[in-house]
This record gives sequence, structure tokens and C-alpha cells, in this order.
Amino acid sequence: MLDVALIIFIVLLLATAFSFILAPFAGSPPIPSTPKTCQAMIDAIHKYDPDGEVIIEVGFAWAGLSIKLAKTFPNRKIIAYEISPFPYLMGRIRKCFSRNVGNLTLCYGNAFKAFEKGSLKPDTIVFYLCDSISEKAKVCMPAAKNLVLANTYAVPDTEPSEVINVGDIANSKLYCYNTSLLEVKK
Ligand SMILES: C[S@@+](CC[C@H](N)C(=O)[O-])C[C@H]1O[C@@H](n2cnc3c(N)ncnc32)[C@H](O)[C@@H]1O
Repeated sequence: MLDVALIIFIVLLLATAFSFILAPFAGSPPIPSTPKTCQAMIDAIHKYDPDGEVIIEVGFAWAGLSIKLAKTFPNRKIIAYEISPFPYLMGRIRKCFSRNVGNLTLCYGNAFKAFEKGSLKPDTIVFYLCDSISEKAKVCMPAAKNLVLANTYAVPDTEPSEVINVGDIANSKLYCYNTSLLEVKK
């Protein structure tokens, strides 16, 4: 019994390590937003998108933020994408053990491709991606009706409506884009 537990533990450890090693190919490492940043995102959604119905998260990693969003906004639809297979699987398992998350849909794949197809029209989009792919995140700007929230890395060539110093241990900044006012939408 102990042997089986040890094997499962080692497999999970290796899979987690591979998720970080393969991060440059997948997009960015599966590092979760800090609790203070998650709360700052929730506050910003209340402020800039009080009546929205759909929130999309690009890259849910271990699904911590998406589960929090689903519980905080029970009347909204939360759709979260993850491109990296192991975090995706762990997020699905985590969702199975979470209560009151019937409004959360976890999808496997590249969220940017889904945006390029033009079929997604959420009210709010949230993400925490690395600098090297923030250029690609520009595709989110015309897709979001009201709000884009970018943790740590700003969306290039776009003036944020507000930059929040979260005050966490990582010195995170939250870039808020009120897309209903952006030129790029016209
Ligand atoms: C830094 S983690 C952020 C986790 C979570 N959003 C949070 O804030 O706690 C970034 C995740 O985005 C995923 N990712 C990067 N590009 C993506 C894309 N185009 N579509 C879906 N997921 C993506 C990565 O695999 C990684 O797990």
C-alpha cells in the first residue's frame, strides 16, 4: 500500500516538474496568482463589470482562481482554458472535489485560437501569462465586452484604465483594461 502511494507521489512530482520544464512550449509556467491578487481581480470585476454574465480565464493551471471565481460569482458562467495537459488534468480533479462550481467549465486547449475564431464574447477575460506571450494576449482585447485583467504582465501597446499594486509577497501588479472604452474595439 505504501509502495503504491510512493509511486503515485513520484509520478505526480515528475509530472509537475515536467509542466514547469515544458512551460516555454506550453506558454508559461503553471504558477498560481497569489490570494491577494485573486482578491484584487474579484474586486476589479465588481468595479468594472458589475453586471457581466461570462468570465473567461486564459490558462487556469491548477484551477485555484477559476474555482474561486465560480464560487464568488454563482450567477455568472466561468469558462477556463488550459493548454498544458497535466495542470489541466489536476484542475479537472480539483473541480470534482469542489462544491458549488456547477457554473465552471474547464476546457483543454489554446484559448487564443478560440478567440481568433471570434466565437467567444465574454464580459471579462482574466489571465496571468508570461512576458513572452503577452503580445498574443492582444487578441483578447476586442473579444472582451467590458474588462480584461492581466496579472503582472501588461498587454503591449494598450493603456490600462488602472494599475493596482496588489501588495502581496510577489509585488504583483494587476493591469485593468476597461475594454468598453478602448479604441481597439472600434
Ligand atoms: C501563470 S499560470 C496562471 C494560473 C492561473 N490563471 C492563476 O492566475 O492562478 C499560466 C497558465 O496559462 C497556461 N497557458 C498559457 N498560454 C495559454 C493559452 N494560449 N491557452 C490556454 N492556457 C494557456 C499555462 O500552461 C499556465 O498553466
